[in-house]
Amino acid sequence: MNLLLTGGLGYIGSHAAAEFFESGHNVVLVDNLSNSSLHVLESLKRIVDRSLPFYELDVNDSNGLASVIRAHDINCVIHFAGLKSVADSIKSPTDYYRNNVGGTITLLEAMSATGVRKLVFSSSATVYGIPQYLPLDEDHPTIPVNPYGRSKLMVESILRDQCDADPSWGIVSLRYFNPVGAHVSGHIGDRPIGEPNNLMPYVNSVAERERPFLNIFGNDYDTPDGTGVRDYIHIADLVLGHACAVRSLKSDALGFKVFNLGTGLGHSVLDLVKHFEFVSNVEIPFRIMGRRSGDVAVSYASARRAESELNWTATRDIRDICKSVWNFSQRRRSGAGGCN
Ligand code: NAD
Ligand code: WQD
Repeated sequence: MNLLLTGGLGYIGSHAAAEFFESGHNVVLVDNLSNSSLHVLESLKRIVDRSLPFYELDVNDSNGLASVIRAHDINCVIHFAGLKSVADSIKSPTDYYRNNVGGTITLLEAMSATGVRKLVFSSSATVYGIPQYLPLDEDHPTIPVNPYGRSKLMVESILRDQCDADPSWGIVSLRYFNPVGAHVSGHIGDRPIGEPNNLMPYVNSVAERERPFLNIFGNDYDTPDGTGVRDYIHIADLVLGHACAVRSLKSDALGFKVFNLGTGLGHSVLDLVKHFEFVSNVEIPFRIMGRRSGDVAVSYASARRAESELNWTATRDIRDICKSVWNFSQRRRSGAGGCN
């Protein structure tokens, strides 16, 4: 298929670009570079051994999107572009609604104008809010507790309405749990600009001795060791979930569908640190801090719907994840390249 990947130079989009290209699709990337750089395009070139078509474009630019869609005869869009920091969304909610909600509406308009009716959307487990039961399945109430989560839920409502209005549309919304890990090549991975918000890149930066210790946000949760538990999913498994979603859109059963992408397993912060130390053979010093505002004690997925309807399941474990992150880190530090 001819696939357009918005946010194609971001952490998840770049891994998806490599996977889709290597499985025989034509991929076209657009990104406004607000949270990525052209270095990622160079890294992708090393992975796939050719230059992928890229446009520096904002998804709020409807005409620009329509031109790209027409120029490459796009059949399906995978919409990664968006802002993703919970903390920033609380500080600057309108940026989040403009980018995540407004950008998706513009994209839908460009797709309508060009006759493209298939879309895969990057949603988030954040739409569930505070878990009322575990594992979180897709029928769990959606009561997001921050503007970022609300922006994702608003988009899901818009996408459902679009499919109701015109049954020729097929849209899959994928609710990611905690995507982590790096490409097997070590060329791309999750390397946020500035101080990492998320656990895995922070642990890695401590292992690299860029930061003296990890701050663990709370050890008094009702969990086996008191630290927060999450469902960490390897980026390689996550992108395969997108491949299964795209495949499902080739069938006749269109309309709007929602799937969790997670492993179904939870790991605590201390558990993840222990695995990272084992894999890297580097000690991760840490100190226990107070709880981080907005955090929940435990979150993990039921991925049964994706297993039964998309034939997808995560196969990589926490050790595989830590190995891939450490490989990315080592490769980058050795000067062999690799960035994101
Ligand atoms: P990322 O920030 O690395 O990638 C997003 C990309 O979109 C960036 O390259 C950025 O420059 C680009 N972008 C942002 N706004 C844009 C706009 N208006 N026009 C064009 N490009 C724009 O984030 P990621 O981790 O790759 O996440 C991809 C998607 O998955 C996001 O929608 C995010 O909300 C969602 N998601 C991510 C996680 C996670 O933990 N990484 C979890 C759940 C959902
Ligand atoms: C994981 C655990 C922290 C950092 C976030 C977003 C979510 C989704 C994924 C986009 C928690 C603890 C963390 C640190 C720590 N993104 N922690 N020290 O909060 O589950 O999810 O990213 O959709 O929307 O909310 O992930 O990696 O930030 O935290 O102790 O320096 O690690 O308290 O228990 P989170 P995370």
